[in-house]
Amino acid sequence: MRALTLVTGGTKGIGLSITKGLERRGIAYITCGRDIQALQQTGAEFSIATDLSTTSGVRELIKKTLEYCQKNNCWISALVNNAGVVENGRLENASDGSWERMMTVNSYAPFALCRAFIPTMKKNDFGRIVNVASLAGLQGYNYSSIYCASKHALVGLTRGLNHELETTNIVVSAVCPGFVDTPMLQSAALRLSESKRISLSQAMSHFASQNDEGKLTKTSEVTEVVMRCLGDSAQAGVQVVRPHVRFADSPSQGRGKGFSHAAISTGRWCSVAGQVGVEAGPGLVAQFKLALQRNLEMVRQQGGGPHNIVSLIVYVTDMDNYRNNLEGLGRAFRESMLGFYPPMALVETTNLVDIGAVVEIQSAAVL
Ligand SMILES: NC(=O)c1ccc[n+]([C@@H]2O[C@H](COP(=O)([O-])OP(=O)(O)OC[C@H]3O[C@@H](n4cnc5c(N)ncnc54)[C@H](OP(=O)(O)O)[C@@H]3O)[C@@H](O)[C@H]2O)c1
Repeated sequence: MRALTLVTGGTKGIGLSITKGLERRGIAYITCGRDIQALQQTGAEFSIATDLSTTSGVRELIKKTLEYCQKNNCWISALVNNAGVVENGRLENASDGSWERMMTVNSYAPFALCRAFIPTMKKNDFGRIVNVASLAGLQGYNYSSIYCASKHALVGLTRGLNHELETTNIVVSAVCPGFVDTPMLQSAALRLSESKRISLSQAMSHFASQNDEGKLTKTSEVTEVVMRCLGDSAQAGVQVVRPHVRFADSPSQGRGKGFSHAAISTGRWCSVAGQVGVEAGPGLVAQFKLALQRNLEMVRQQGGGPHNIVSLIVYVTDMDNYRNNLEGLGRAFRESMLGFYPPMALVETTNLVDIGAVVEIQSAAVL
């Protein structure tokens, strides 16, 4: 049986970016939405036009997905509950319809889809469920009480399910971005610009300023976290999407060349002890590569990546050997760190504890 991923709301915004991410990885998927034309343009193996703001629309999605799977000998191994809707305003002006729409799309649909697909995941002893929640699922925002309630429910569903599925190979994560540049946010900005009589760009800047990093999150940044949650080393629970780290150069020292002068960060601190790569043989480049990979492995296990590393200290036993291997070391660094250059220090030392070690790397990450 072939494994398929189901992504709700793959027609635009974050969902569209997630489906493109799946396509790049060669992962076949089913998606849904209301916009039939946009659905036809996705690279989905099968797409379903349905309205998830009604319980019958949610049931229709489940029915059609199960029928397709049965006919085509496949099963849903991963579910990404991404479709979402926001209607802003003061609570006292909100209608019952508004409550129902947000609660149905943002929390009922994920619940019903989890209920429908978990049994097969259990049978196949594998499953990944990613609920695209929001920071509004962890804290309050102005004029968004119902949206906050619906996203808190989704985060609660994730936390509860994780306990329930603890002994299985099904991992459930809630991905929580701040303000992301998507059609949803652009519509919210339009409404804000009209009600406050400000320009559209001022309204967008207002949302950007509410993110810790002072700018809007990109859909690709959310997708990166979702992809990690779908992978083999997925972490269960809440994953906050917030580029925690901003690298800085100082006016007196100019732009850093290949490294940053400083990292300004929020979030959890993860300090990785000095790692060596003796098993790679006597060569400096090979040991450097393995030691760096071991640092990254530790950070990845905590749900991070190269972009989370904020400090590196490299100890070498022979500085001339280091200088003579700059090209190979640079290549190994770029391959592992994917273009991220945290503040670094290079230290020559007479000896290292591990016999045969010519390099040791210590790092710190913010998650
Ligand atoms: N943008 C942000 O700042 C932000 C921040 C945190 C979390 N999020 C969450 O991220 C997810 C994606 O948001 P986005 O910003 O990418 O939104 P978006 O640009 O408005 O896209 C929403 C997607 O969900 C689908 N959808 C919405 N209502 C639906 C319905 N009733 N039935 C079926 N499909 C429906 C849409 O498809 P159709 O239009 O084809 O129906 C579209 O594909 C949401 O859960 C949202 O709450 C967004």
